[in-house]
Amino acid sequence: MSSQFDVIIIGGGPGGYNAAIRAGQLGLKTAIIEKRETKTLGGTCLNVGCIPSKAMLHASELYETATTRFAALGIKTGAVSFDLPQMLKQKDEAVDGLTKGVAYLMKKNKVEVFLGAGEITAPGKVRVTAEDGKSQDLETKNIIIATGSEVTPLKGVEIDEKQIVSSTGALSLPSVPKHMIVIGGGVIGLELGSVWRRLGAKVTVVEFLDRILPTMDGEVSKTFLRILKKQGMEFKLSSKVTGVEKLKTKLKVAIEPAAGGAGETIEADVVLLAIGRRPYTAGLGLEKAGVALDQRGFILTDHFRTNVPGIWAVGDCIHGPMLAHKAEDDGTACAELIAGKAGHVNYDAVPSVVYTEPEVASVGKTEEDLKKAGVEYKVGKFPFSANSRAKTNHETEGFVKILADAKTDKLLGCHIIGVGAGELIAEAVSVLEFGGASEDIARTCHAHPTRSEAVRQAAMGVEGWTMQA
Ligand code: FAD
Ligand code: NAI
Repeated sequence: MSSQFDVIIIGGGPGGYNAAIRAGQLGLKTAIIEKRETKTLGGTCLNVGCIPSKAMLHASELYETATTRFAALGIKTGAVSFDLPQMLKQKDEAVDGLTKGVAYLMKKNKVEVFLGAGEITAPGKVRVTAEDGKSQDLETKNIIIATGSEVTPLKGVEIDEKQIVSSTGALSLPSVPKHMIVIGGGVIGLELGSVWRRLGAKVTVVEFLDRILPTMDGEVSKTFLRILKKQGMEFKLSSKVTGVEKLKTKLKVAIEPAAGGAGETIEADVVLLAIGRRPYTAGLGLEKAGVALDQRGFILTDHFRTNVPGIWAVGDCIHGPMLAHKAEDDGTACAELIAGKAGHVNYDAVPSVVYTEPEVASVGKTEEDLKKAGVEYKVGKFPFSANSRAKTNHETEGFVKILADAKTDKLLGCHIIGVGAGELIAEAVSVLEFGGASEDIARTCHAHPTRSEAVRQAAMGVEGWTMQA
């Protein structure tokens, strides 16, 4: 293996492996370092994040559909049951296939892979230490830090990945808990809470704030809460967990009002801690290299450049949404900048999707953002209950909401709750990225009968000419 490179990337997640692919494509001599025990690339996303969670969401959603909706559609089955070991196996197979795919892409783009922990010993110098303790020194013109993030801990709640789990443990529970308490009503809590509720667990979500998904549009968040409650998920809003006590087989969870006051203790079999993630940069040698961090530990960057020449950073360990596609775009743009090309990521046009049933998808500004910024805006809304395809499929919950500038009609945001929202949002992302107007969506022909027509009807609503409701 070589020891001299143009670019060395530390971290093999979506930020790192996409930077590696693009750097390889652009003819840069590239290496990527990954320290994961499984010796696989793909980072959090492929190994313990996006992919396994979606595999479990998909299978559990089909199970729930079969048990609750087939009869009304005229489909008869015998008693439907599930095989949890097989469900977990198909999840592991999805992870295995995709991580191997990334390894193939490294080969294809002539990227050298080093398995071990990367450490910056000086600008331009990286040491890789393998599991067996053997180390190797590499030299490079550029270093990209793509080390991602880790679970934010909570005092009094010690993760053991068996009874008290992070998302990683929650993706591999060997049996369905009777009662799962989820700390945090954010994306992980609601996605993985949905998985185990569908499979039979009682799920109680304890959320510090008075709403779930705090960064999403308020109206969407309210509707989503109502739908999740109807599905059987329970919520304790404006509440905090102050400690979890381990008994022989059970857990005792102490919960208090967020504002203080008399608390209560609830029993659970499993507690899932999901109160956010924080940048992960431990053991990288950043202090010695002089790389500046902010107070919360994020690496400070300007167009992915840190304060130290030749050291760059991308993905979850820098500012911006902690999402795989954002990390991917960061990595691509960073490699392009290193190769002397233009590279930029517009964080205002990064979509965000919650893969529950129904899905929640969002891009751009929320009404709350616009009010806070004093921007005058118009709203167009369309319910799926008036969309022909949604009605035909008996999937009428939710709506599309479009926000546009009151004077110029420029699209400012789009928020969707409904079946397939994660796919529907792509149209709004494109229009937003092109700086288009809500009228551009309203005047574009949309196939009938599709749910995408609801996006068009909502866009028509901005100027008050929604035709089908
Ligand atoms: P990571 O994917 O975290 O990769 C960093 C890699 O660096 C890791 O593999 C780590 O082992 C390695 N590393 C760290 N330090 C070193 C070192 N010193 N030497 C060598 N290697 C090192 N995002 C979405 O967009 N959609 C989703 O559906 C989604 N679902 C998620 C579900 C869950 C349960 C979780 C936890 C996250 C989910 N995310 C999702 C978020 C997504 O996983 C992250 O935003 C994304 O993985 C960030 O990519 P990254 O490359 O910055 O970091
Ligand atoms: P999150 O930031 O989405 O939600 C955390 C929630 O916990 C918030 O609602 C917050 O108010 C609440 N909270 C904070 N402290 C609390 C406390 N002490 N007690 C009770 N509640 C508390 O974080 P989450 O769900 O852990 O996910 C981490 C990140 O992973 C997300 O920010 C997201 O970027 C990414 N992710 C993305 C997914 C997707 O795109 N579909 C899926 C899963 C994760």
